Amino acid sequence: MTPTDDFIRALPKAELHMHIEGSFEPDLMFEIAGRNDVEFPFESVEEVRAAYEFENLQSFLDIYYQGMNVLRHERDFYDLTYAYLERAHADGVVHTEIFFDPQGHTERGVAFETVLDGIWRALRDGEREFGVSSSLIMCFLRHHSEVDAFRTLDQALEHRDRIAGVGLDSSEVGHPPAKFERVFRKAREAGFAAVAHAGEEGPPAYVREALDLLQVTRIDHGNRAMEAPDLIARLAEEQIPLTVCPLSNLKLCVVDDLRNHPLKRMLKAGIVATINSDDPAYFGGYVLDNFRAVRDALALSAQDIVTLARNSITASLADEDWKARRIGEIEALLP
Ligand code: ADE
Ligand code: ZN
Repeated sequence: MTPTDDFIRALPKAELHMHIEGSFEPDLMFEIAGRNDVEFPFESVEEVRAAYEFENLQSFLDIYYQGMNVLRHERDFYDLTYAYLERAHADGVVHTEIFFDPQGHTERGVAFETVLDGIWRALRDGEREFGVSSSLIMCFLRHHSEVDAFRTLDQALEHRDRIAGVGLDSSEVGHPPAKFERVFRKAREAGFAAVAHAGEEGPPAYVREALDLLQVTRIDHGNRAMEAPDLIARLAEEQIPLTVCPLSNLKLCVVDDLRNHPLKRMLKAGIVATINSDDPAYFGGYVLDNFRAVRDALALSAQDIVTLARNSITASLADEDWKARRIGEIEALLP
């Protein structure tokens, strides 16, 4: 039987790949642009949405950086984060590991602390009001230099208590993980968890570099690892999770059709694949929309859906007791 939306919603799920700046909905963008008196190149919400036609990662990133330009004050980051938590909670997300891109803000003159304080305050309110726990993962923009990444890491070190991990995002091809080997070493030595986008558009070799040079414990996307039998075997053998983002892959033309998405092959190979929304305001949906899309395109069974929910808990940075409790809750929901 096809798993229903209600069944998917009721399963406790963790979201492990979601850029907070990518959850910026056009109506909130207009509101904040207005109150900050920032010029905004669109006339209406409809016009913004109409611009969300992408042919690759870069064509999206150009609009993504333009959108975040209206975020200026602590309250803006608070409102953005709070709105995401409300949506995630409605989809049955019980834990979220949020990416943020400080360089996208500090390069515009917004202080690192303004960004962090606003996100953090919303995470605390969200936990109290919705019961959604969270961790923050700070991403380095890979199109910027190693020096700039080191500077950003130094800022993060001043807030070690509020940032759980580091990641690597933005334009992938031409900016291999090797570029950030020394930055990641310093981050890991400081106790940060390490993850990286790899194999979204970049070749399988980038996934190998992320594992071997950056020593990440999770790969974000990882689609192109499925082109390399050695990597498929390694990801399964070492149980290295992939944070898969189906609607993102469709919108950014990483796959031509969701029916050709490698998710089912990942599960069959024994890889710890998880479902995530990436940039939900830009790609047409939050976590539940992503589950629904792959359920329909790939004819996923209830068992597949349960495996994906369980994987999201297992692959999270949360502690083992919490994971065991959540997995117990998932098992209690099985018929
Ligand atoms: N930044 C926001 N979304 C991203 C994605 N899908 N890939 C790389 N960088 C990103
Ligand atoms: Zn991403």
